Amino acid sequence: MSAYQNTQYQAVDSYTNILNNQKAQSRRSKYIVIGCVIGVLAIIGVGVGVGVSVSKDHKSTAAKGAATNSSVVSQTDPNDPSTFIKNASWHQAFYGIAYTPEGSQLPECGNNLTDVITDIQLLSQLTTRIRLYGADCNQSALVLEAIKQTKVNMTVYLANYPVPTDGGAAYERQRDLIEAALQTYGTDHVSGVTVGNEYILDYLSDNGGSTQDPNGPVGNEGAALLLPNITDTISRLKGLGYNLPVGNADAGSYFNNEVLSAVDYGMANVHPWFADEVIQDAAAWTWEFFEDTNLADAANLTNKPTMYIAETGWPTNSSTAAAESDGPSNASVANLQIFIDTFVCAANANGTGYFFFEYFDEVWKDIEFGGVEGYWGIFNSDRTIKNVNIPTCIAP
Ligand SMILES: *[C@@H]1O[C@H](CO)[C@@H](O)[C@H](O)[C@H]1NC(C)=O
Ligand SMILES: *[C@@H]1O[C@H](CO)[C@@H](O)[C@H](O)[C@H]1NC(C)=O
Ligand SMILES: *[C@@H]1O[C@H](CO)[C@@H](O)[C@H](O)[C@H]1NC(C)=O
Ligand SMILES: *[C@@H]1O[C@H](CO)[C@@H](O)[C@H](O)[C@H]1NC(C)=O
Ligand SMILES: *[C@@H]1O[C@H](CO)[C@@H](O)[C@H](O)[C@H]1NC(C)=O
Ligand SMILES: *[C@@H]1O[C@H](CO)[C@@H](O)[C@H](O)[C@H]1NC(C)=O
Ligand SMILES: *[C@@H]1O[C@H](CO)[C@@H](O)[C@H](O)[C@H]1NC(C)=O
Ligand SMILES: *[C@@H]1O[C@H](CO)[C@@H](O)[C@H](O)[C@H]1NC(C)=O
Ligand SMILES: *[C@@H]1O[C@H](CO)[C@@H](O)[C@H](O)[C@H]1NC(C)=O
Ligand SMILES: *[C@@H]1O[C@H](CO)[C@@H](O)[C@H](O)[C@H]1NC(C)=O
Repeated sequence: MSAYQNTQYQAVDSYTNILNNQKAQSRRSKYIVIGCVIGVLAIIGVGVGVGVSVSKDHKSTAAKGAATNSSVVSQTDPNDPSTFIKNASWHQAFYGIAYTPEGSQLPECGNNLTDVITDIQLLSQLTTRIRLYGADCNQSALVLEAIKQTKVNMTVYLANYPVPTDGGAAYERQRDLIEAALQTYGTDHVSGVTVGNEYILDYLSDNGGSTQDPNGPVGNEGAALLLPNITDTISRLKGLGYNLPVGNADAGSYFNNEVLSAVDYGMANVHPWFADEVIQDAAAWTWEFFEDTNLADAANLTNKPTMYIAETGWPTNSSTAAAESDGPSNASVANLQIFIDTFVCAANANGTGYFFFEYFDEVWKDIEFGGVEGYWGIFNSDRTIKNVNIPTCIAP
C-alpha cells in the first residue's frame, strides 16, 4: 500500500509471490496483516525534458508563492492559498490521513507546490494530521510550505524510507532533505519523523520469505540494519536542537521488538481487505487486531512506544475483475462508505490514533502494481471526491 519507488532499491520478491504469501498467511490466521511490496518502478510519466520546460513555464508563479485556483478548490483571492473556499459538506472527521504528493518518486519526481497546496486545502478539510512515507523529491519542504501558505491547522509526520541494500544512500539523502526542511520551516507543524516503512516485512520477503517471524534471526538481522539509521536520526535531531518524536512504520504483524524498543512511536498497517474480512466486520476486526497485537506488544516493552494505525481503509476499484474481491467483499465505493461509517467515529471515540489510507488514488501504483493498489483514495486521482459522505463527528 505504501510502495515507494527508490532507484537504489534492487530485486524483491515478485508481486505475485508477495500476494501468494499474503493469501497463505491470511488463510493461516485472521490476525495476519499484510504489508505490501516495494518494487523497482519502470520509468513512467513525462520525460525529463518535458518536466524541465513545464517547471520553467511556471517558475514565476511559483516564485511569488502564488497558487492559482485549481479546478477543484476555489480561492476568493486567486493569489492567496489561505482564502480557499471550504466545502460545507466536509468535516475534520479523520484522526489522520496517509498522503504522498503526486510525483514524489525518483527518478522522475515532478511534484510541485501548486498541486501540494491543492492537496493541503482538501486534506485540511478532513483532518488536522497527515503522514508521509519518504522524503525524496523535496516533499517535506513542499508540504510544510503548503501548510504555511494555506495557514491551516495541520501537522505532518515526516518520513525517511531507507533501504537495506544501498549502504545508507537513500537514508542519508532523505535525512538531509528532512533536516533542510526543518531548518527552513521549524517544527511547529511537524509531529515526528518516521524512519522505515515496511522495512522488516520487506527484509523478510527478500531473505527467505514473509512467513518468517519478525523477531526471528532474519528479522533481527533486518533490525540490525535499520537501527543505526534510527539512532542516527535521533541523535542528529537532538544535535540540531529539535525535540521531535522518532518512530517506525511497518505492517501490523511485522514489528521487530528491537526496532520498537528504539522508537517513540510505531505505526502499524492494519488492513481488513488483505486479511480477507467481510466489509461488515472490517472496522471491528481492525480495532481488535490493533489492540490485541500492536498495543499489546508495545505495552510489553519498557519504552512503551505510542502506537498508531499507519494505514487502514478500503479500496474502491481494481485493474482486473479477478482482483476485485478479497473473498467475501468487493472493492467498491459503497464498501468504502461502510468502512468509513463503521470505523471513523468509533475509532475517534475510543482514542485510536489512525491514518486513513489514503488521500487520493495513486495512478503510478495502478501502473506498477495493478490490482486494487491504485484505488485506495478518498479522492479520485483527479482530486474530485469519491461518492462518499464524510461523517459529522470531529476527530480529537
Ligand atoms: C478562481 O477564483 C475566482 C475568484 O474567486 C473564481 O471566480 C473562479 O471561479 C475560480 N476558478 C476556479 C476554476 O475555481
Ligand atoms: C462538496 O462535497 C460534496 C460531498 O462530498 C461533493 O459531492 C461536492 O462535489 C463537493 N464540492 C466541491 C466543490 O468539491
Ligand atoms: C504539477 O504536477 C502535475 C503532475 O503531478 C502536473 O499535471 C501539473 O501541470 C504541474 N503543475 C505545475 C504548475 O507545474
Ligand atoms: C488544531 O488541531 C488540533 C488536533 O490536531 C487540535 O487539538 C487543536 O485544537 C486545533 N487548533 C485549532 C486552532 O483549531
Ligand atoms: C523545496 O521546496 C521548497 C518549498 O517550495 C522550495 O523553497 C525549495 O526551493 C525547494 N528545494 C528544491 C531543491 O527544489
Ligand atoms: C543506514 O543504514 C545502512 C544500512 O544498514 C547503513 O549502511 C548506513 O551506514 C546507515 N547510515 C547511517 C548514517 O546510520
Ligand atoms: C473502538 O472502535 C472500533 C472501531 O474502530 C469498534 O469496532 C470497537 O468496538 C470500539 N471499542 C470500544 C471499546 O468501544
Ligand atoms: C508480554 O511479555 C510476557 C512476559 O515476557 C509474555 O509472556 C507475553 O506473551 C508478552 N505479551 C505479548 C503480547 O507480547
Ligand atoms: C476502475 O478500474 C478500471 C480498470 O483499471 C478503469 O478502467 C476504470 O477507469 C476505473 N474506474 C474508476 C472510477 O476509477
Ligand atoms: C463483486 O465482484 C464480482 C466480480 O469479481 C461480481 O461478480 C459481483 O457481482 C460483485 N458483487 C457485488 C455485491 O457487487
